[in-house]
Amino acid sequence: MSKGRLAHALRGVCFIWQVALMAATGSKLWEVPTTSSNFSKSLQQQPHCHFRHHQDRVRITAEIPPKLDGTWLSTRCEVRPGPEFLTRSYTFHPTRHFQALQHYYADSGCENPVYSLVIRGKLRLQQASWITRGATEADQHLSGVVIVVHSLAAKQKLASRLPPSCVGPNLSRMVPGKPLNLYNTRAGRGCLAAMGFSMMELDLVRVETQHHIHGEKIQELFLGDIHTDWTERTHYRPTGYQQPLQSAMHHIHPCPVCALVYRSSEQRPPLLPRQAQPSISLAGRWVSQQCETRPTVLFLTREFHFDPDQHAWEGIYRHYLDPLCSQSTFTLRASGHYAQGNPSVKVPGATEFVFKVTDVRVTAEDESTTKLLNRTKSGKCGQAGEWKVGVEQGLSSTHGCTVLGIKLPHKEYELFKVDQDHRRQPLLYVGERPTDGSSPDRQTRRATSFQAPLMLCSGTETQPPSRYGSGFNSKQVQMGTSGTGRLTQILLVVLGCTLCSWIWIF
Ligand SMILES: *[C@@H]1O[C@H](CO)[C@@H](O)[C@H](O)[C@H]1NC(C)=O
Ligand SMILES: *[C@@H]1O[C@H](CO)[C@@H](O)[C@H](O)[C@H]1NC(C)=O
Repeated sequence: MSKGRLAHALRGVCFIWQVALMAATGSKLWEVPTTSSNFSKSLQQQPHCHFRHHQDRVRITAEIPPKLDGTWLSTRCEVRPGPEFLTRSYTFHPTRHFQALQHYYADSGCENPVYSLVIRGKLRLQQASWITRGATEADQHLSGVVIVVHSLAAKQKLASRLPPSCVGPNLSRMVPGKPLNLYNTRAGRGCLAAMGFSMMELDLVRVETQHHIHGEKIQELFLGDIHTDWTERTHYRPTGYQQPLQSAMHHIHPCPVCALVYRSSEQRPPLLPRQAQPSISLAGRWVSQQCETRPTVLFLTREFHFDPDQHAWEGIYRHYLDPLCSQSTFTLRASGHYAQGNPSVKVPGATEFVFKVTDVRVTAEDESTTKLLNRTKSGKCGQAGEWKVGVEQGLSSTHGCTVLGIKLPHKEYELFKVDQDHRRQPLLYVGERPTDGSSPDRQTRRATSFQAPLMLCSGTETQPPSRYGSGFNSKQVQMGTSGTGRLTQILLVVLGCTLCSWIWIF
C-alpha cells in the first residue's frame, strides 16, 4: 500500500473513530461549534504559567464558515519541510478571488530572496470539515501562477533544482525582476510540480478571533498543513494546519515583519532584518500557547521540562476531542534523557538533539479511551483490567504498550530552535512530526520544519516535573517511537478494529 493510500485509509479509520467517540460521549459530530467558543477555561488550566498578553482573559471565537476577506500576513520568516524559507501575503476578495504572494529565500532569516510567486485563483468555501473539527473545507481553482526571480544567482540555483525539460524553455527566458507565467505553458506545469508547488493548503481553512479583555481583537488565518515528505506534498489533502497568518487589520502589535510583508510585491520581496540568534538554553518549563492541531484529528497541548544539568526531560501531552481543547481524551507523560548535538546545517539557527524515552505514563481521561486500554491483554500494556478514568498507569513494567505502539526505551532525532516573540520573550520551536505519523527514529527522518512555538513559563522554577503530572502535556519529541501522532493513529486503528466488520468494506 502506498503511503498516500495508507494515510487515506487511516483517515477513514479516524473518521469512524471520531464518530464512535462522539457517539460514546453523547455529542454529535455534526454539531460543529459556530461562534463564541470559550477559551478562558483552557487558559485557566495553566495556573503556574506567566501568560504575558494572555494573562488577561482571552475569548476565542471561530466562525464556520469563516470570513476570509482581507489580507493575511506572515509574522516571521516561515520554515516549511524541506526546508523552505518563506514569507506570505494572501489577499481574499469578497468576489471569492484570491491572490497569494509567496516569497522564497535562500536563508532561514529571510534576508536573501530567491524568487516570488503570485498565485491567482478563486476559492469556494464548502462544508465544515468532518475530519478536522472546527475547520472548513474549500475548493480552489487556480487561474495563474507567475514567478519572479530576484537575481542571476537565484536563477542558477532554481535551475539546478529543476528537471531539464523545465529548465530549457522557461529558465532561459527568466530575467531577474521580470514576471514569467509558469502556469499556462506545458513545461511550466512540470516546473511547478518540480518546485514542490501546491496550493492544497487552501483546502482547509479556519479563522480564529481572539477577543482580549481591553477590546483588542486579533485575527489569525489557519490554512492546511504541508506534508513533511516532499514526494507527498503536491497531492496531500491537509488535515492539520500551518502556523497561522495574521490579519493585516487585526494583528499583534508590534509586528515589524507584518509591515514589511504587507508593503511587498513580487518585484520587491520583503527583506527581513537580521536578528540576534539567542543561544539555545532549554532550562525550564515550556508550554503550548494555544490548543494545537495535528494532522489526522488530533487536538493537544504540550508541556516540557528540561533539566540541562541532569540532561533530563519530561514531556506531557494532553489530548482532546475538540479544537478548543476542552474535552480531554488521554494524557501522556514521557520522560528520559537528551543530548545536544551540532548546529543544524539544513536549518541554520536550529540545533540537533537526540532524545531517549525511558518512561511513559498514560492517563485515560474519558470512558471510551479507558475501555479501549482496559481491553489490552495482560503483560502488553500496563496492568490489564486496571485502567480507570483519571488514574495514571506506567508502561515500564510491560516495556511499553503493544497496542499503542510504544516500545521502551526509544530514541528520537530532533531539531530545536530558540527564538523570541514580539515582546522578546523566548520561544521554543520543536521539530514537526512526520505527517505520516511515523517517528523520527533515524537521522534521515529528522525534522526540517517546526511545530507551533512553546513559551517559557519560568526559567527558574525547579519543582520536579512530576508535580505537574496531572496537568499538561509534554513534548512529543521525545516521545519515542510512538510520537503522539503515531500513538493516536494506533489508538485509532485499535479502536477502529472493534468496528472492523464494517471499516474494511470501504
Ligand atoms: C467564558 O468562561 C468564563 C469562565 O468560565 C466566563 O466567566 C465567561 O462569561 C465565558 N464567556 C462566554 C462568552 O461564554
Ligand atoms: C476493566 O476491566 C476489568 C476486568 O475485566 C473490569 O472489572 C473493569 O470493570 C474494567 N473497567 C472499565 C472502566 O472498563
